[in-house]
Amino acid sequence: MKGIILAGGKATRLRPLTKITSKQLLPIYNKPMIFYPLNTLLTAGIKEILIIVAPDYAGHFLHLLGSGKDFGAKFTYEIQQSPRGLADAFIIGEDFMDEDSVTMVLGDNIFEDDLSEEIKSFKSGGRIFAKKVADPERSGVVKFDANNKAIKIVEKPKEWISDYAIPGLYVYDKRVCQFAKEVKPSDRGEIEITDLHNSYLEIGELDVRQIKGAWFDAGTFDSLLEANVFVSKHKRLSKI
Ligand code: TTP
Repeated sequence: MKGIILAGGKATRLRPLTKITSKQLLPIYNKPMIFYPLNTLLTAGIKEILIIVAPDYAGHFLHLLGSGKDFGAKFTYEIQQSPRGLADAFIIGEDFMDEDSVTMVLGDNIFEDDLSEEIKSFKSGGRIFAKKVADPERSGVVKFDANNKAIKIVEKPKEWISDYAIPGLYVYDKRVCQFAKEVKPSDRGEIEITDLHNSYLEIGELDVRQIKGAWFDAGTFDSLLEANVFVSKHKRLSKI
């Protein structure tokens, strides 16, 4: 199992903070944001990690994280020239993955739960997560049937379909690279990760697991503040 941290993007919703640095380098209590998704991968025993960054502050990531040696891991860096969408990570990361499966985590996502068993027990197909939230329309949303089987996934639905948002942690086998190359850009011009979930859902190989602990996507001023307050109260959330 390899790991990818997707830490590019424009972070327009956090301007002017992100005019001088990258969102994923902003502080969450006492650490840069990217330490939390990095901790999620390291805790699951993942040692080879690709960090995808935007061109503007690429050097800052290298300065902060280095080769990975200090974390007992090996880091590789790639630059995403423009934010084409989350599915682009598997096109950029194709050579890095080689024949292995991958866990991709978004650089602004913070998880309370230790998800290492969910990652370590993965064999093939796709495994994603679902979290009951008050504002599911901010993310991809998954609808379950009466037996808790995922039956429908929609990116930022305009009409309510379910309260279950899909957090930014995705485990896929190598076929995801081919699926990613087949995705057509959406109306907002991005290649959507929701299309990849649906590729696996259609062939009956998508496993969706509900998580209980807190989850933050720290991409807005309110969620950034909320994540800071939460982490200040749960200081052991990250071991690194
Ligand atoms: P978003 O929060 O959807 O996008 P953003 O970070 O550019 O912010 P804004 O909407 O405020 O402009 O991205 C979620 C995460 O994925 C975040 O860590 C940035 C990353 N990302 C990329 O690295 N490349 C991309 O092409 C996209 C769309 C996001």
